[in-house]
Amino acid sequence: MSYRHFEAIEKHAGLLGILTAVMVSIGGLAEITPLFMEAHAVKAPANVKPYDPLRLAGRDVYVREGCYLCHSQMIRALRAETERYGHYSVAEESVYDRPFQWGSKRTGPDLARVGGKYSDQWHLLHLMDPRQVVPQSNMPSYRWLAEKKLDSADIQARMRGLRKLGDPYTDADIAGAPDAVNDKTEMDALIAYLQGLGIKNEPVASAQANAAPANDGGAP
Ligand code: HEC
Repeated sequence: MSYRHFEAIEKHAGLLGILTAVMVSIGGLAEITPLFMEAHAVKAPANVKPYDPLRLAGRDVYVREGCYLCHSQMIRALRAETERYGHYSVAEESVYDRPFQWGSKRTGPDLARVGGKYSDQWHLLHLMDPRQVVPQSNMPSYRWLAEKKLDSADIQARMRGLRKLGDPYTDADIAGAPDAVNDKTEMDALIAYLQGLGIKNEPVASAQANAAPANDGGAP
């Protein structure tokens, strides 16, 4: 195109706007479309298992209580993040998460690999009253969870639902679910869920060596 053509475009704000939108859309499609294609190719690695009944129930409590409003579960590929939280999150870790809990809001720390960081007792004290263990905390307390018993019929229905979506639960897993949650409270389930986060999912050691890319962006 000659200079004249550019001039014509630049002098017509409407045309310039439309052509800019077209260019930005092409760029966006080039970036986003391949990700949609790849989504189907994401398979669970052998070390990522579907949630056992107690953890699944705990996950439901986590979602219901809106913990994700203050906690992300996605460690970004930045040195500041991987040094604080561990290996950055990869898509394969979330294949059994419906809906996924990545999030981006961090009033509290990322929880993607919090499993095993504290004892069950610590979590209990913390969830009953966060100020008992972290005096400056502004996290709400969740003491009522310790009084609410889990519903075993509900967990079976949920596992059947997830099986329809492709989670490899066996009939025996589903039949055994009521025993696994029997007499447990929502608090027990939530703690079991937290203690499982990132524990078995962490990509294997060889990948770990390359965990922290040189990018030192530093955002929280
Ligand atoms: C209003 C925001 C807010 C909400 C909602 C919230 N948290 Fe927190 N959470 C925080 C803050 C701030 C901290 C850091 C201080 C502390 O440890 O209490 C924290 C810390 C934590 C930690 C310790 C993490 C670490 O690595 O030290 C865990 C575990 C946790 N929260 C779990 C939960 C769960 C489970 C829920 C939902 C039942 C929840 N939080 C809801 C704000 C929140």
